[in-house]
Amino acid sequence: MKRILVTGGAGFIGSAFVRWQLRRYPTTHVVALDKLTYSGNRDNLKDADPQRYTFIRGDVADPETVARALDGCDGVAHFAAESHVDRSLVGAADFIATNVSGVNTLLEQAVALGTKRVLLVSTDEVYGSIETGAFSEDAPLKPRNPYAASKAAGELFGAAFHASHNAPVLITRGSNTYGPFQYPEKVLPLFITNALDGLPMPLYGDGGNVRDWLFVDDHCSAIDLVLRKGTPGETYNIAGRNEKQNIEVARTLLQLLQAPESLIRHVRDRIGHDRRYAINDEKLRALGWRPKTRWEEGMAETVRWYQENEWWWRKIKSGAFKEYYARQYDHLLDG
Ligand code: NAD
Ligand code: TYD
Repeated sequence: MKRILVTGGAGFIGSAFVRWQLRRYPTTHVVALDKLTYSGNRDNLKDADPQRYTFIRGDVADPETVARALDGCDGVAHFAAESHVDRSLVGAADFIATNVSGVNTLLEQAVALGTKRVLLVSTDEVYGSIETGAFSEDAPLKPRNPYAASKAAGELFGAAFHASHNAPVLITRGSNTYGPFQYPEKVLPLFITNALDGLPMPLYGDGGNVRDWLFVDDHCSAIDLVLRKGTPGETYNIAGRNEKQNIEVARTLLQLLQAPESLIRHVRDRIGHDRRYAINDEKLRALGWRPKTRWEEGMAETVRWYQENEWWWRKIKSGAFKEYYARQYDHLLDG
């Protein structure tokens, strides 16, 4: 591909995907479209060669902006989203605007311009919770929080555009992703940066909820493979095959940081907290994908990155994040 559009290219996974594309394909030009919401950050692209990518600040729900960004692109990887479950539990209007209307706008413009590959980045959360076993791609969608519901709705628009307009839509459902440059509202960077300041790690409920962890570069390599080699109309799960209870994750972080167990603070559970996410990734593996990063390495690298890049997260945590944190956690951590 000579030119690709990455929406949400200043976010956590989107920016890693921009860097990944530039590293892997020396002749590809990347267009990054991002609204720069609270989680979008130009600092995330500081390691990307400015000659090789074009940054457009704009809204993926705005047709003219999307048409301009898509023009001349062979494909698009669509990451732009409201991405945090806890925020969606307070109010979901922004989630519907971006994760549903934004997808519709992108699809309309891609159809109008004849874009050859349209990959929608989705999440394992659309399946809902599973006690044992793992969801395959044909399992019913049973989202259980507003974020997951908005992602499922966006996916359905993708499927509908494929069926009605024959749009070359591909969907990926990735599991919980971790690594450098993740906004510190998400559990791993929140716990790491809190612990670095001697602050508590607010662990929801009994800490027994299970997530499957995928290192960010492995998520990027899977998305790239599906973008290039996947079959239009198909959906691909991307699993990390690293299922961990949240309490285990917290303890691993404490070990890596050499911080005391007393930092773990059990707090009131998230409402409707999904107990376990698990997906089967055989379909993607049949395309030849394998993750490269072992859990232990990925965790050590992630912790090291936050230790060495205080400039990045202190700027965030001392800005608007402070208000969010106070609203979300002060009442939980009181006493
Ligand atoms: P993030 O919040 O770090 O990044 C989202 C980016 O989208 C930000 O840069 C933000 O500015 C941008 N954005 C938001 N609304 C926009 C709009 N209307 N127009 C243009 N840009 C907009 O999120 P992330 O963790 O990098 O997630 C990226 C994608 O991956 C999302 O679609 C998410 O649903 C999906 N996903 C995330 C995970 C995970 O564990 N983080 C797992 C599976 C799938
Ligand atoms: P999160 O990073 O919000 O991702 P998701 O909800 O999309 O899986 O949370 C990961 C897990 O960590 C989830 O089970 C909720 C839990 N969690 C906490 O225990 N404390 C926290 O402060 C946060 C943000 C999450």
